[in-house]
Amino acid sequence: MISKLPKYLALFSLVWVFIVSCSPQHQQSTFANAGPVAQQQSNLYYLMFWIAALIFVLVQGALIFALLNFRRREKPIPGSDFTVPDIPPKQVHGNTKLEIIWTIIPALILIVIAVPTVQTIYDTYQPPEDSDPLEVVAMGHQWWWEFRYPDEGIVTANELFIPTDRPVRITLQSQDVIHSFWVPQAAGKKDTVPGNTNVMWLQIDEPGNYSGQCAEFCGVAHARMRFRVIAEEETDFNTWMEAMKTPPKMDTSEGYGLFLAHCSMCHSIDSYNEGSYEKELTMQDERWDDWYFNQEESVRVSAPNLTHLGIRSMLAAGQKDMTKENLITWIKDPSEFKQGTRMQSVASVYKGGPAKLEDYEIEAIADYLLAQIPDGWGIAKTGVDAEEEVEAMVWNSAEEHGEYLFVNQGCAGCHSLNEEEVIVGPSMYGLYDRSGDKVPGLSAEEYIYQSIVYPNEYIVEGYPANVMPQIFINLSEEELQALVSYLKTIK
Ligand code: CUA
Repeated sequence: MISKLPKYLALFSLVWVFIVSCSPQHQQSTFANAGPVAQQQSNLYYLMFWIAALIFVLVQGALIFALLNFRRREKPIPGSDFTVPDIPPKQVHGNTKLEIIWTIIPALILIVIAVPTVQTIYDTYQPPEDSDPLEVVAMGHQWWWEFRYPDEGIVTANELFIPTDRPVRITLQSQDVIHSFWVPQAAGKKDTVPGNTNVMWLQIDEPGNYSGQCAEFCGVAHARMRFRVIAEEETDFNTWMEAMKTPPKMDTSEGYGLFLAHCSMCHSIDSYNEGSYEKELTMQDERWDDWYFNQEESVRVSAPNLTHLGIRSMLAAGQKDMTKENLITWIKDPSEFKQGTRMQSVASVYKGGPAKLEDYEIEAIADYLLAQIPDGWGIAKTGVDAEEEVEAMVWNSAEEHGEYLFVNQGCAGCHSLNEEEVIVGPSMYGLYDRSGDKVPGLSAEEYIYQSIVYPNEYIVEGYPANVMPQIFINLSEEELQALVSYLKTIK
């Protein structure tokens, strides 16, 4: 008896697993329908389930009836210990009437199932004709989700904001391999296929968070490719949309510089700017091509857009809650939460291991990222304004100011100051002396100035385009002049 206990326990746990997987309370239950698409798909499922259940009962009932009533019996010979076997029943072969009946009945059942199935396929493919759907592009990446709002010019990642009571048309794409977009409570799964576009729609009626998950095996971190749908009432959704187009407070902290130096080649953070949508689409493709065609040497790869990261609720594609502690752990060693990230294998700051940064530097980056909140977001969300004083700094000279900017704007992360060393971009050593004759008609100062503001127009031979962040155009005229003054001194 004791030896059988583990077996019973195992069986019980197995049955238990099957039973709880049907619980409509679970956030990933397909029975907890949150909108019309899910409801229609569920109805179809229930119809098929009950038809199948009825057939099961009838067939099994007939089988059991036959087994019990027509089983072989041995008859005792009266007055002796011997028995004789039953006489075999009459053998029948072929019965036209029966065969027609059991061909017609299944055919009718299939027709009964086919009509609502085809109807559901059409209804759940495109939003209703007279509706005004929100357009979203969901792009699968190994191993995270990019969400684009083409009509609004917004790009974000892993958290899909949608309005309630309004259809959302989702265009499904993939940059690398086949993934599958699945929000169990809202709609059935549909694949994202590289080089091909699928379409689906969903709608959620109650505000709240809805769990999503990649549902097609797509590589080592497939199970960690989660996302979240945040359904909000229309006014809240519009607040979010406007906020995504609003810049955060100016930030010149050390974290900003470190971010620019180590993270900005792959992660965009300024999608509130005009024209950034088209730029991000191009950049994302270029980052991918960079990596795809030279996986050994590439220093960048497509990566989640981090604009306004501070208002997100999760990190690492849904692995953890967005807290400072988790963010620090994530930056320090992504494999703590998620094995196999491209971030860890590609970015120079990792190269496969933990971040080559001091603890205080990692904390500074985390602080900077968490401060990425649309200006006025606190007021819009809670009515409380968390105004902070920005310290005013005093400089003795333009060169000193420039040196500060060189370090704090992240230039130092990619450009060395000595002749031999190349970090990512060209060394700044002797820059002034060689800048005068680079472009006819431009003085050395003008050349340096222009190549900070429009880096892609002045790519030094042998270095890739689009690696240097194009955000220095946001520096003030005074800051740009200070940077140029400082760069002139590096000899
Ligand atoms: Cu993406 Cu599984």
